[in-house]
Amino acid sequence: MTERIIPIADAHYNAGTPLVPASPVLATGKLADARARTLRDLRISVTDRCNFRCSYCMPPAVFDRNFQFLPHSSLLTFEEIERMARVFATHGVEKIRITGGEPLLRRNIEALIGMLAQVRTVHDRPVEITLTTNATLLARKAGALAAAGLRRVTVSLDALDDAVFRAMNGADFPVADVLAGIDAAATAGLRSIKVNMVVKRGVNDHEIVPMARHFRGSGHIVRFIEFMDVGASNGWRLDDVVPSTEVIARIDEQFPLEPVAAQYPGEVARRWRYADGSGEIGVISSVSQPFCSSCNRARLSTEGKLFTCLFATAGHDLRALLRGGYSDEQISGAISTLWSQRSDRYSEIRSEATSGLRRIEMSYIGG
Ligand code: GTP
Ligand code: 5AD
Ligand code: SF4
Ligand code: SF4
Repeated sequence: MTERIIPIADAHYNAGTPLVPASPVLATGKLADARARTLRDLRISVTDRCNFRCSYCMPPAVFDRNFQFLPHSSLLTFEEIERMARVFATHGVEKIRITGGEPLLRRNIEALIGMLAQVRTVHDRPVEITLTTNATLLARKAGALAAAGLRRVTVSLDALDDAVFRAMNGADFPVADVLAGIDAAATAGLRSIKVNMVVKRGVNDHEIVPMARHFRGSGHIVRFIEFMDVGASNGWRLDDVVPSTEVIARIDEQFPLEPVAAQYPGEVARRWRYADGSGEIGVISSVSQPFCSSCNRARLSTEGKLFTCLFATAGHDLRALLRGGYSDEQISGAISTLWSQRSDRYSEIRSEATSGLRRIEMSYIGG
């Protein structure tokens, strides 16, 4: 275990003792947690590294050249990830999102996509595989990813104004290259491309309407995300959050909007469409309108810890089971036990009392 330079990292990289399942259970269907929420969406982080330093996620003052990322030996191998995905699929997982850090930095990631594309749901359908990326490597990789079986992709882009975006990504990376990555993804046949914009008041909120205008009619769906207090290093303040109601009002003034029903239970984004038929947008309102009551997401960290909430303070060490000779049935039993005990609802109880918690960084747990 490497030494970490900030306390939050020490807490989370070491947290969670190896978990030995009490009763191996063969899963047959959907699991419900302590609040009757089923498991549907598995998010797998494949690297804790990123070539961006977005202020809301990996602020450069913390994630500097001395920051110690995980050594390669700590990372789950592709075979271990595939095995975990198969076991999770027996518990009702229908969608796997590959995240990071920046997932395209993981060498040969297309091989992992190819392996995951073979995993089937309890209904014997292919699990839907998708990926969230900053698009720096997308133009280069889109063809190989699509050929490997990736069907969809979500790209992070916080502004169209080049100076604003270069400052926000902390890497002086130009907007034009992200747009080229999105075009390459579309050309490669990736569908339902989504564009995630994290909105911070006074930083990029003047870019809300330009982003909506730019992607209107493109077939791509922009999602405006409230700046969240995830992790412990992004200096979050409620004053910096632009509530989604305000985002919708600002866009509606220029381009009238109407609400659209959710596509599936537990969908994070609330959907809106342009009244003139030129497409749709989404808002993700984790701060102003929390969606914990329908949260069906589990997160597997880069080193194989299971987190049952984005804001968890500790994970459960599934890698210890993978590497400790446990069978699939035993690992399945551990997942059942952990999910059935789950009662997380952080966003609903966000308060003074929770603000002091030592939370996990999003680049480690997966976005
Ligand atoms: P689709 O499958 O395309 O509907 O996407 P998704 O719902 O999986 O959304 P995505 O992974 O793109 O998430 C977008 C953003 O929503 C994330 O980057 C987070 O900022 C936020 N988000 C996603 N899941 C959660 C969650 O469980 N809790 C909270 N608080 N925020 C979340
Ligand atoms: N608030 C909201 N979303 C965040 N992301 C990372 N940090 C935050 C935060 N503090 C999300 C963004 C980005 C994805 C990789 O992670 O949606 O697109
Ligand atoms: Fe990297 Fe995405 Fe985090 Fe930005 S939000 S630092 S691109 S992982
Ligand atoms: Fe789910 Fe936790 Fe996010 Fe609530 S705060 S929606 S429980 S991940």
